[in-house]
This record gives sequence, C-alpha cells and structure tokens, in this order.
Amino acid sequence: MERIIILDFGSQVTQVIGRRVRELNVYCEIHPFNKFPFEDGRIIPSDVKGIILSGSPFSVRDEKSPSVILSHYAGKVPILGICYGAQLIAQNYGGSVEASDTREYGRAALTVANIDEPIFKDVPKTSQVWMSHGDSITELPRSAELIASTASVCNAAYKIAEKKIYAFQFHPEVFHTQYGGTMLRNFVKGICGCKGDWTTESFIESTVESLREKLGTDEVILGLSGGVDSSVAAVLLNKAIGSRLHCIFVDNGLLRKNEFEEVLLQYQDMGLNVTGVRAADRFLDALRGISDPEGKRKAIGKTFIDVFEAEAQKITGAKWLAQGTIYPDVIESSSVKGPSATIKSHHNVGGLPEKMNLKIVEPLRSLFKDEVRRTGLALGIKRQLISRHPFPGPGLGIRVLGEVTKEKLDILKEADHIFISNLRTYMTDLPAASNGLSYAEGSSQIPLYDAIWQAGTILLPVRSVGVMGDERTYEYTIALRAVISNDGMTADWVHIPYEFLAKVSNQIINKVKGVNRVCYDISSKPPATIEWE
Ligand code: XMP
Repeated sequence: MERIIILDFGSQVTQVIGRRVRELNVYCEIHPFNKFPFEDGRIIPSDVKGIILSGSPFSVRDEKSPSVILSHYAGKVPILGICYGAQLIAQNYGGSVEASDTREYGRAALTVANIDEPIFKDVPKTSQVWMSHGDSITELPRSAELIASTASVCNAAYKIAEKKIYAFQFHPEVFHTQYGGTMLRNFVKGICGCKGDWTTESFIESTVESLREKLGTDEVILGLSGGVDSSVAAVLLNKAIGSRLHCIFVDNGLLRKNEFEEVLLQYQDMGLNVTGVRAADRFLDALRGISDPEGKRKAIGKTFIDVFEAEAQKITGAKWLAQGTIYPDVIESSSVKGPSATIKSHHNVGGLPEKMNLKIVEPLRSLFKDEVRRTGLALGIKRQLISRHPFPGPGLGIRVLGEVTKEKLDILKEADHIFISNLRTYMTDLPAASNGLSYAEGSSQIPLYDAIWQAGTILLPVRSVGVMGDERTYEYTIALRAVISNDGMTADWVHIPYEFLAKVSNQIINKVKGVNRVCYDISSKPPATIEWE
C-alpha cells in the first residue's frame, strides 16, 4: 500500500487534486491542514510517499492564516506546494510573498527553464497553465531554484532540491492547465516513486478481505435507497459476508413510478438478502396538513426512522449498521470550513446505532463518486442503476410543492415517468454529464439522460385555465427541471432541444389527467436551487 497525503488549506479545488492523483491509480487522502494524520507529525509512516499542500482562500500574510510546521516533513518525503502551498513554503524558507494590485485569474503561458527538469518530463517548453492568486512570491528562498515562469509571474514554479520540495504558483489540477496531469504524474510517480497499483479491482479485493476480517460472523443491517451509494455498499458487503447482510428497502410512496418494484427486483437479482417494506400510507399520513418544506422533510425523516427501526428490530443479533457514506461526505464533515450543512437523509437513521447498540461500517468511505460508480460496474451492477441521477431522500415529497396528497403524487409520478423515459430514449450529441461512465469510442451520440446530472418534474400548487376540445379546463402546471453540475453545489440548466421539450409537453398534457400546462425551469444555481423546496 502506498499513499499521498493532501493537506487542505480550504481551496475550492482540493478535492480535484485528490481525484487527479487517484486517476493515476495512486491512493490519496485529504486531511485538514491542522489535523495531520500522524501523531505529532514527526514520524511519517513508510507507506506515505509524498505530501501535497493545497491552495487556499487565505493570504499567507494574514496573521491567522492556516499553516503547518514544514520542518516536520521536509526532506523526509517529497512535498508539492500548489498556489497557497507554494507561497507558504516560500515564506517559510526565507522568501517573500507580497500582495499584488490585481488578483491574477485565468490562463497564462508557462515557460519551463530546463526541459530536463524531472517534474516537467513530457511537458513542452511553453504550455498553458491556470492561475488564480492574489499574492505573489516576489523573492524565492535562497536555497530555491527557479524552474518556470510566465510573462507576468516570474516565480511560477521553483524547487528546493535538498528538501525534495517542488512548488507551483499555478493550479496543475484544473482542466485548463494543459499538462497539469503530466506534472502531477511526474510528481507522484516520478519524484515520489509511487507504483500506481490502486485500481478498482484491487480496491474490491482488499475491501472484501478487510470486511470479512472486521465483521467475522456478525450480522449486518443496511438501508437501501435505490441510489448508487447504498447499492454499491450492499453488493460489496454481500460479496464479503453473503446473507449475513440484511438489507431493508423502504417504499415511502415518494419514489418514482414503479421504482420500488423495479429496484427491489434488481436487488433480488443481484443476490441481495433484501426485505422490501411497503409503508407509503404511513408517510402520506405523516405528511397530511404539512405544507412547509422543512416540516415535510422532518415528517418524512422521522417516519423513515420509525419504519426502519421496527424492521431492524426483527433482525436479532445484528451488531453492525452499514452505510453508503462516500469520501466527499467524510471530507466535508471534517474540512477546514467546518461541518457541512448538507446531510443526506437516507444516510441519516437518527439515533438508531446507539439505541440498538450497533457499530457503524462504511465500506465506501474512501471513494469519490466516480470511483463508487466504477466499483459498482466492476461488481456487475447494471449500468442503468449505476448511471442514475441523484434523487433526494424526501423524494417526490419535496417535488409536490405545498401539501402532499395522494392525488397530486399520482399526477406527478405520471408526468415524471414521461419526462424521464423520454430522456432515456432521446439521443443527443451534448457532452456526457460527469457520471463516471465511459462510452464506446466513436459513439458521437449518447442518451439525453446521460448528458444531464439531475432531472425531475415538479407539481406546482396553482391551477390555470386551459382549453381541451370544446371545454375549458382548470388544472395543474408541471415544471420540468434538468441541470448539469459536479457536486450539486452549483448547477446550470441544460439547453434541452426545443423538439424534445415539445414532445414531452405534448405527451404530459395529453396523457396525464389533471395537467394542462408544462414549463421548463431556466434558472441556474445560485441564485435558484436545484429542488424547488
Ligand atoms: P438544492 O435544491 O439544494 O439541491 O440545490 C442540491 C442537491 O441536493 C439534493 N437534495 C436533497 N437530498 N435530502 C437529500 O437526500 C434532502 O432533503 C435534499 N434536498 C435537496 C437535490 O436533489 C440536489 O441533488
């Protein structure tokens, strides 16, 4: 086992560094700068092959800026400082960092001083890089050697050979740095000497082995949501401990049309020991009279815990609760910025672990979303399940705006079904959304569904006048929503072809009783959100 440690100083793109390193089949971990994972930081385990210092929104000149004691690591393993990381190193070793009048943001042409420099192996003499910084390194430490410059930034890259330190003022991890991937490869594989044998297959093999060791002959409970994370976690655990994994899949009545039945069948086909619990009426009862979005979320969350707990109690002797927590959840909750405000409600089974005295097992804790998807595919899970759009825990409960009734839910399910099935069959040459799937070489068209990060329909709580045949109607409006995003934090509406919108609008108005108008939501996030509630 070999790993790279990334120390996070709060940059927006720290996770991207992690993804790039993992793409080289090298395992890496992201830790907040102030929580270095080894006791006092002086003894570095032999599997740690290198350290990367991330960028940051702070200035090294601020009194309270985040910092590390570099002398604990320098010279022991190679270090790469990126942007803020590069400035921190410069300041630490006697260089100067000063404020510039203008923040430098955007593309720049990097010229390498010596093309034989190992960190620039296979990088041309001049190439495009991405800059994003306010401060500049105006003077390098005396022990440093300048290795690259741009027209406006002299000290764009330097090294301190005796300490095995490299530092870039630009961001090699972002797409706009043309040879950024090559530079990171040179650092991780060339300078740190990583072999790069961390693959999906090796992850599955070692995880199954360690799960067997950890769980022994214990019984484990897991809540399935129909989503990617819980499904992959279940299949992985099933591979390790078979039917001692007890899966519970709750039908809250807020899933898509036919989804509960279809997904339950798929789970059974995959050989999972799964109990489907039909509890739609309990959720509808709990939602009666509530129109406030947060009130609805609470009612749905509480009912879920009650139903799940009652079912879990039936599994006698269970010692563990398995969860589909993934790496971004872990980093967010321990990041420089403090605990994340977003809690996935299907992961959140309240006080159940304490109440039932269950220990927690999270087999996907170290994976990014695209790695979870690749693991799922390698485990034989169907592409259709793996490529599913994100779906909120409270489901259609927050897409029927205002009070949820059975009548409104049924209307929404029909309209949603028409929208989503058309997305799956309509082919487009729009680029694929970041869903971690690959397409056959030369296939220029993909299903529109795959070009979208998340799509859904919303039932608006207003009726409007229409005309059908000779009669006036007074019915509901359906809003269609389709966005591209990376992580749901920001999103852009998708430029769906008019022809497609026309077809879906026609089908919904003709086939779904109770709807006489369809709109397409053309708002981005921010300032709008993806969900309407
Ligand atoms: P917003 O609407 O905040 O959504 O732009 C961002 C992402 O989060 C999902 N979402 C939720 N997921 N429970 C969930 O599990 C919730 O209460 C919830 N609210 C929003 C949303 O679908 C989108 O992917």
